[in-house]
Amino acid sequence: MRRDIERVLWDEKEIAAKVAELGAAITKDYQGKTPLLVGVLKGSFVFMADLARRIDLPCEVDFMSVSSYGKKSETTGAVRIIKDLDANIEGRDILVVEDILDSGVTLSYIMSVMRVAGPASIALCTLLDKPSRRQVPVELRYKGFETPDEFVVGYGLDYAGRYRNLPYIGVLKRSIYETDLKG
Ligand code: IMP
Ligand code: MG
Repeated sequence: MRRDIERVLWDEKEIAAKVAELGAAITKDYQGKTPLLVGVLKGSFVFMADLARRIDLPCEVDFMSVSSYGKKSETTGAVRIIKDLDANIEGRDILVVEDILDSGVTLSYIMSVMRVAGPASIALCTLLDKPSRRQVPVELRYKGFETPDEFVVGYGLDYAGRYRNLPYIGVLKRSIYETDLKG
């Protein structure tokens, strides 16, 4: 799979150091609380697994899955919930865990839906942030790395469902999409 990657942006060691830093910050900020970590599937599964083990507090995890309507290449703003949370989030301290914050459309929708359920607090932790692509403002409490406006894969992030299992994060070669477009 390495040959499909143009260049590696963050290797395993750099990611582990950043995840430890985020876990330490969360541990400090949520003293005396039992946060509910909410992962957005599927991209967050790797980050969630590592981050949860760097949080030295009693905490719980839950997952939800959403899909956007419209073409993959454009963000229409309409979001459909495929799998909702199992937990009742009323009165809970919610930490939403995402792989990447891009346009912000998906996350602003998810967070506005959750706010209606009356959590005690709600904050967002994303491993990657692509601020150049933002269409909707989203309040970001914990951020790992800022990423350039390029298509990245690995550590949970996919292209057409693949590459999530790469242990590092890298830019996917353009030739991979071009082959796809040709058919
Ligand atoms: P948005 O913030 O609503 O645009 O949605 C962000 C979602 O788009 C992420 O959870 C990813 O699934 C996907 N995404 C955005 N940029 C990338 C990328 O560079 N690589 C892989 N997936 C991406
Ligand atoms: Mg995602």
